[in-house]
Amino acid sequence: MENISILGSTGSIGRSTLDVVDKSGGKFNVRGLAAGRNLDLLCRQVEKFKPKIVSLERKEDADEFRRNCKEYALRITYGQEGAEEVARFEENDIIVSAITGINGLKPTLAAVKAGKRVALANKESMVVAGPLIQETVQKSGAQIIPVDSEHSGIFQCLAKERIEDVKKVILTASGGPFLQTSIEKMKNKTREEALNHPRWNMGEKVTIDSATLMNKGLELIEARWLFGLLPEKLGILIHPQSVVHSLVEMRDGSVLAQLSPTDMKVPIQYALTYPRREEALLPSLDFSQIKVLEFYKVDVKKFPLVKLARQVLEEGGSFPVALNTANEVAVEMFLKRRIKFSDIADVVAEIVENHKKRKIESLDDIFEVDRETRQQTRNLLKKRS
Ligand SMILES: NC(=O)c1ccc[n+]([C@@H]2O[C@H](COP(=O)([O-])OP(=O)(O)OC[C@H]3O[C@@H](n4cnc5c(N)ncnc54)[C@H](OP(=O)(O)O)[C@@H]3O)[C@@H](O)[C@H]2O)c1
Repeated sequence: MENISILGSTGSIGRSTLDVVDKSGGKFNVRGLAAGRNLDLLCRQVEKFKPKIVSLERKEDADEFRRNCKEYALRITYGQEGAEEVARFEENDIIVSAITGINGLKPTLAAVKAGKRVALANKESMVVAGPLIQETVQKSGAQIIPVDSEHSGIFQCLAKERIEDVKKVILTASGGPFLQTSIEKMKNKTREEALNHPRWNMGEKVTIDSATLMNKGLELIEARWLFGLLPEKLGILIHPQSVVHSLVEMRDGSVLAQLSPTDMKVPIQYALTYPRREEALLPSLDFSQIKVLEFYKVDVKKFPLVKLARQVLEEGGSFPVALNTANEVAVEMFLKRRIKFSDIADVVAEIVENHKKRKIESLDDIFEVDRETRQQTRNLLKKRS
């Protein structure tokens, strides 16, 4: 039996992880849960899974939780430090990192520093701090198993391969809800339309990123640091069926692929049980029903953030932090209905164009660029409104 803690337990990945745990036949013990503001759901998770430590985003929520939850000995904490404490909890064997955005970085690093297995869903931490995380992995002996379906696919294809034999890695993208929409019509798409993803059921931020295809741009950068692959070896193809999660071409011309049902429980289960495989929780793929698997080039005129992410990846330094932060702010503003859908890409592009490259050598450097870019993006959005 392995002990598991989940950072972001009340989110889409967190809930799917607890579902996998629940159906595992007692193979996992939940030790810690870190959530944001969803007290009711955290309370239900605590009643069912009996962790030893929980954390909430805000002190007042942690205080309320303490008042309502007197059942048994449970450490209740809060804030970034609270999530880090959950990540470091000494009984942990596996930490699932599934807080959204740069808020997940410090807890993810805490888990990596502890030298444990980290099932990584929080792609933004790899985007802004890939080299720092990998340096910490080298020192601590931690093991990162990707949860993102594309990266899990690559990880599985590469399990028995030498990285120097890889010629090209292709990340697939569903294309999101606007794959068939014209650029003109896409401009004013609403929050509801952008959140209506045709294939995946996910949290709001990653769903909007999937509509702009920034998600694929972030995943490109994530793949760079997860697998140590040079940018020119990384490509993207639109694959509307979302059945093939990644393609890996080897130097001898063989192409390896990982296919599975379009459900995050598959890569989550793999990350938790690796290197073992357990019984599937979903019905098998039926290829006679799927019939067609299509692949297209990305239209970068329509989805300019994919091209921008590649430029940022090649530029390096502080650029990925600026890209990520500008996108986080713009998506938040779109979700609050303060800006148009097309403003997201415009604003992120303008922030990145005006960004002055700096060296990133520490966590402090990352958070300094994040702070400044957050302010610049807010100012730019004010000016435009
Ligand atoms: N969903 C997917 O299918 C999928 C696939 C691949 C990768 N990912 C990545 O996985 C991560 C999570 O995605 P998601 O879809 O699960 O997002 P989500 O549904 O929005 O869940 C986010 C989780 O993080 C918590 N949280 C947010 N801010 C926090 C903070 N400051 N401190 C502590 N907890 C905080 C939320 O808590 P409350 O809800 O309690 O406020 C929630 O539990 C993202 O980085 C995403 O890109 C997701």
